Amino acid sequence: MRIPLVDLKKQYQGIKDEIKTAVEQVMEDTSFILGPYVEKFEKQIAGYHNTEYAVGVGSGTDALVLSLVACGIGKGDEVITSPFTFIATAEAISRVGATPVFCDIDEKTYNLDPGKIKDKITPSTKGIIPVHLYGLPCRMDRVLSLARQYGLRVIEDCAQAFGAEYEGTRVGALGDAGCLSFFPGKNLGAFGDGGMVVTNSNETAQTLRMLRNHGSTTKYFYGMHGFNSRLDSLQAAILQVKLPRMDQWIAKRRENADMYNHMLFNTDVVTPFIPEGSSHAFNYYTIRVRHGRDRVGAFLREKGIASAVYYPLCLHLQEIYKELGYETGDFPVAERLQNEVLSLPMCPELSREKIESVCQAVKEALDVDTSILT
Ligand SMILES: Cc1ncc(COP(=O)(O)O)c(C=O)c1O
Repeated sequence: MRIPLVDLKKQYQGIKDEIKTAVEQVMEDTSFILGPYVEKFEKQIAGYHNTEYAVGVGSGTDALVLSLVACGIGKGDEVITSPFTFIATAEAISRVGATPVFCDIDEKTYNLDPGKIKDKITPSTKGIIPVHLYGLPCRMDRVLSLARQYGLRVIEDCAQAFGAEYEGTRVGALGDAGCLSFFPGKNLGAFGDGGMVVTNSNETAQTLRMLRNHGSTTKYFYGMHGFNSRLDSLQAAILQVKLPRMDQWIAKRRENADMYNHMLFNTDVVTPFIPEGSSHAFNYYTIRVRHGRDRVGAFLREKGIASAVYYPLCLHLQEIYKELGYETGDFPVAERLQNEVLSLPMCPELSREKIESVCQAVKEALDVDTSILT
């Protein structure tokens, strides 16, 4: 049995007719960039997050870049973030001319350790980007109170956490700006690139609308240096078909995670931890294999089961950030996790039977490992 990480084909089969009608409609209207489809979808996304505004942009990466600019962060500023995230988080900080300042993560949640943030704050610190990794909200109460205390902006990286909640509030709605990604493999995935920023600040929303469209105030008049980063109508129309299904799909992800937890109980792997008050959106189901992670991955691959390592090398140890002078050992928790995490197949379409096969294979791989060790 071949088991992919994400089964987008199966998802498409279930909504094919609606998608085709939606795409056809946009093509008939020949309204391709921004316009009524994007505006309607922005309203729906703002409604889903219970925020005042939502601004569609070209990708999750651009959502981060434009949010940083809209929050007045740029050259000479420092922004604190996790070293254990996708490159886009730190890349956005570097892209606006600021410096990413990495801070170690929590052993259980794999998100920024709020207890370690304070030591990283300097007079140049202007913001924090908490990343809700794999779909689990970061400890936002602590992040927000530090931000208030030191006058910092908080830009949430929600790329992997669409639909997750923290103390009853959807992630993205907690900080100054919440950055969403519609990359196809995300919980709400487009048929190409796309992103959005949710915010309760009118000023931030207005600035984002200008920034995404060359800094223009009205057509051919420019108030600032901007970008070309607009959500297109085809993506907005496709995402409108998917959005009403999100809660059901996320509930299915949670059910699948429960099945995994149950079947992997009493093995040597560490299953995802969910602190009280948080709900996990399970964009990824990630276990921790303390010994022989790569061997388990290879064993699964031999059986036709996909798995992935998010992420095999922390950002502070990447070639691109050599100039920042970090060294191995600076962030022990993140560095340990880069060698231990393994994401297993996860999507709403995953069947119990497939989860059983994955868990069976993981257990077999662990047994083989143990017999080699003893
Ligand atoms: C944590 C995180 N931040 C940002 C991004 C960037 O999103 P996009 O691919 O839409 O640019 C991703 C996408 O993989 C991500 O996982």
